[in-house]
Amino acid sequence: MSVKRIGVLTSGGDAPGMNAAVRSVVRTALFHGIECYGVRRGYNGLISGDLIKLDEKKISHIINRGGTVLYTARSKEFMTEEGQQKAVSTCKFLGLDGIIAIGGDGTFRGARALSKYGINVICIPATIDNDISCTNYSIGFDTAANTAIECIDRLRDTMQSHERCSVVEVMGRNAGFLAMYVGLAVGATAVLVPEKPLDFEKDVIEKIRQARFNGFTHYMIVVAEGSACASDIAARIKSSIDLDPRVTVLGHIQRGGVPTGRDRVNATKMGFMAVELLLAGKTNRIVCTDNGNYTDVDIDEGLSKERRIQEMEVNVLAAMTGI
Ligand code: F6P
Repeated sequence: MSVKRIGVLTSGGDAPGMNAAVRSVVRTALFHGIECYGVRRGYNGLISGDLIKLDEKKISHIINRGGTVLYTARSKEFMTEEGQQKAVSTCKFLGLDGIIAIGGDGTFRGARALSKYGINVICIPATIDNDISCTNYSIGFDTAANTAIECIDRLRDTMQSHERCSVVEVMGRNAGFLAMYVGLAVGATAVLVPEKPLDFEKDVIEKIRQARFNGFTHYMIVVAEGSACASDIAARIKSSIDLDPRVTVLGHIQRGGVPTGRDRVNATKMGFMAVELLLAGKTNRIVCTDNGNYTDVDIDEGLSKERRIQEMEVNVLAAMTGI
């Protein structure tokens, strides 16, 4: 297949490093003499024909910026057949030989819909939730985790001075990867994740009692948003034990900020790989990484599995909080 002109879009929740991925796609495309168009506001931009031609200048100084210069959206219209047909018409009208879609599982489902109409698509995983089963790393996770870790370290200072209990809610949608990673990194008293049914007495109260018995006078409870609501957990702690916890919901703070080196380099490699896959005549694929090795899988296969928290992490957490 000859590839002369492609489109790149970002869709779903933004993730730090998306800009680095866009930059890499454009630079790799230009390196091969391919024209590259940026689709604005995710699939909405394909529906309305909101595209801009990208060159070196337009993507300069974005590798270090959070968010996405292409804007993003969760397009309701694209979920309809009519919306998808409009998007396909735009691709055909502009003569796009392929679309590179950067985002999470919703973005991949959108790409799969396009591919059913014969549009060549390659997906790049970017979500702070890190919940894409076929890749052990999604762009944005490292930056979001480090942001949460820094916030919790700050909280710890004041919790320690006042000898308080802090309940911190972190993002992750239905997955606990972010909460687990952050909880291990801050040395949390307890970490609640949706993958494990909550036993409040055992998972929270016993952990606090244990820590108190070991001489601690402040306690950090990390709650994944998919597991429970931090204010409910704080209220239950207050009514079960002589503590008056303070609640912090980190929220969208976790989605912003300067991407880490890890996110920039991963995004750069994945963007490169996505263009190379199109050039190799591949379509309906997701770029994946497995501890430094880069591969690609079919979108259907990638979406069919559930990503599970590693048993190793659960065991480490048990050891860190169980003495
Ligand atoms: O998927 C990324 C994510 O940040 C989730 O962690 C969170 O549940 C959701 O998006 C928040 O979405 P919104 O930006 O629409 O509030």
